[in-house]
Amino acid sequence: MLSTGMALPDLHTAADPDPLIVARAALAEVFGFHDFRPGQEEVITSLLAGRDTLAVMPTGAGKSLCFQLPAVIDGGLTVVVSPLIALMDDQVRALRLQGVAAGALHSGRSREDNSDTWREAMAGRLRLLYAAPERLMLDGVMEGLSRIRLSRLVVDEAHCISRWGHAFRPEYLALPRLRARFPGVPVAAFTATADAPTRRDIIENLCSGDAEEFVFGFDRPNLTIRIAEKRDPQRQIIAILDDNPARSGIVYRLSRRSVEETAADLVRRGYNALPYHAGMPAEQRAENQDRFVSEDGVVMVATIAFGMGIDKPDVRFVVHADLPSSIEAYYQEIGRAGRDGAPSTVTMLYGLADIRQRRRFIDDSDAPDEQRRVEHQRLNALLGLCETTECRRKALLRAFGEELEERCGNCDVCLDPPDVIDGTVPAQKVLSAILRTGSRYGAAHVVDVLTGHVNDAVTQYGHDALPTFGIGTEFDKNGWRSVIRQLVATGVVDIDTTGYGALMLGPRGRAVLKGEDPIGLRRPVKEDKAKPRRGKSSPAVTASPQNAPLLTALKALRRDIARELGIPAYTVFHDRSLTEMAERRPGSLDALSGIHGVGAAKLDKFGARFLAEIEASVGSV
Ligand SMILES: Nc1ncnc2c1ncn2[C@@H]1O[C@H](COP(=O)(O)OP(=O)(O)OP(=O)(O)O)[C@@H](O)[C@H]1O
Ligand SMILES: [Mg+2]
Ligand SMILES: [Zn+2]
Repeated sequence: MLSTGMALPDLHTAADPDPLIVARAALAEVFGFHDFRPGQEEVITSLLAGRDTLAVMPTGAGKSLCFQLPAVIDGGLTVVVSPLIALMDDQVRALRLQGVAAGALHSGRSREDNSDTWREAMAGRLRLLYAAPERLMLDGVMEGLSRIRLSRLVVDEAHCISRWGHAFRPEYLALPRLRARFPGVPVAAFTATADAPTRRDIIENLCSGDAEEFVFGFDRPNLTIRIAEKRDPQRQIIAILDDNPARSGIVYRLSRRSVEETAADLVRRGYNALPYHAGMPAEQRAENQDRFVSEDGVVMVATIAFGMGIDKPDVRFVVHADLPSSIEAYYQEIGRAGRDGAPSTVTMLYGLADIRQRRRFIDDSDAPDEQRRVEHQRLNALLGLCETTECRRKALLRAFGEELEERCGNCDVCLDPPDVIDGTVPAQKVLSAILRTGSRYGAAHVVDVLTGHVNDAVTQYGHDALPTFGIGTEFDKNGWRSVIRQLVATGVVDIDTTGYGALMLGPRGRAVLKGEDPIGLRRPVKEDKAKPRRGKSSPAVTASPQNAPLLTALKALRRDIARELGIPAYTVFHDRSLTEMAERRPGSLDALSGIHGVGAAKLDKFGARFLAEIEASVGSV
């Protein structure tokens, strides 16, 4: 029987029905989707066959459905391990709205709520039980679970189990014990970011020997990828906001202070921005997150404490105003954009100061040497992506072991190819200025020496008498800063992370100085050309002009319903569903059920009200 109480009688009474037919029926019936997305069908088939499964699918690909759908079809209870409370609550809320019996056990809920959920689970009335790993390990919980029919253990964000991963969660180390306790129960692990060693970690710790492994590639073709030099971050952020009027987006900043400052500045200028970081009071944080997911057009200025598992489908842009920690982290963070598949833009801004700060973080951490070495390698890989003169997407996907045949046509390098110059002579000038000033000065002073700018230190130490003084006539100050950044990113120059950021010869420095290691550089752009280009914004999912008033009315209705139920607007219906309603104007419940995202439960709950709204607007035309 379908857990939702909804009938799929023909299919279920048929002898030995093809599980995929049942799955397709449930896809339409329960979730209101008419097609599987790439990969979902294969993964669901593997789960339904009871095999241990590891699925690596891109961010926003629809991994949740891959375990939710089998849970709906199967008899017993599916236990889902998930790293974040917000993530669990979000999914449980959405499932309930779709008529699926789901619950969560975690420390963020009251004792009564947790024991209600537990009772439901023990009575066999739940299809999905979400829980934090440490909850599941409690003796009483394990005991209880062993007495009921468990159909599957699901581990979401499974890369959190790997110590080498960028999001290691110590709680996940308990999971192998869970697995051992229920040896006959199939395990399904999901992640968007797992390189080969992490995948091995997951399989070894969670799965049996004959696990089925799916790796579906990482590409998110609807994301326009941009990486730009950081000049004036505030102005650059505003330009992106202006390109995306009234659209939702996330601006990531590294520190709590810069989150506060950036958000306050944006609000002062009239933007609908909110701050989010781990230092804020919990209620304030929850409220801001709620507003971000339930209102249209909020810009969340946040540290990376924000975002994991947030499934707001219509985030149209993500900005990294500071350098992320690694390619994996970057990929996961940009993955929050464009989950509805519509075009979205992700922009990273970075400069020399970012590199220095990231290096210092690693050097100052008390991680063991080996781990610090790995962290530096990860950072260097990210810097390689930042400085690449080939297609960004190609470079990004290669980092995950995936080869893109052609350039993507949808990144800053493809759209606006940089001018690559022979960097040997400029690099030698920089190296010589560094050496002749004793490898004791930061970038600002080295640039002064190169451009022949007299400052106190220059006169005091006689640097104006050096042969390198003023030889850097080919670029202006910003140009030289850009050259130095590129040299640091590529290991020609090193930056001292302990003191004042003194520049030194890097591992490649000697060879470049001798002319044995040719180096290409992006030609530094002049200040006025560095502005992010306007007008090239991504079209969102929109209705044609004659349908716009109806779409607005439907959105208002959605907001009212969301308020009445105290849930985010998009869990009522996604934008895409409303757009389709506005375009096709269904005149009956039956016709409405053919719209994307309208499953049986939502048809029941909201159908009549949306039909009435459509009818009213058709009548008034
Ligand atoms: N077959 C489908 N047709 C249309 N939309 C779908 C389908 N499957 C999933 N979706 C939608 O895709 C969105 C992203 O799904 P989901 O949250 O499961 O992504 P994910 O793969 O878990 O990504 P992440 O790694 O970022 O957590 C959701 O809004 C979901 O409703
Ligand atoms: Mg997910
Ligand atoms: Zn490209």
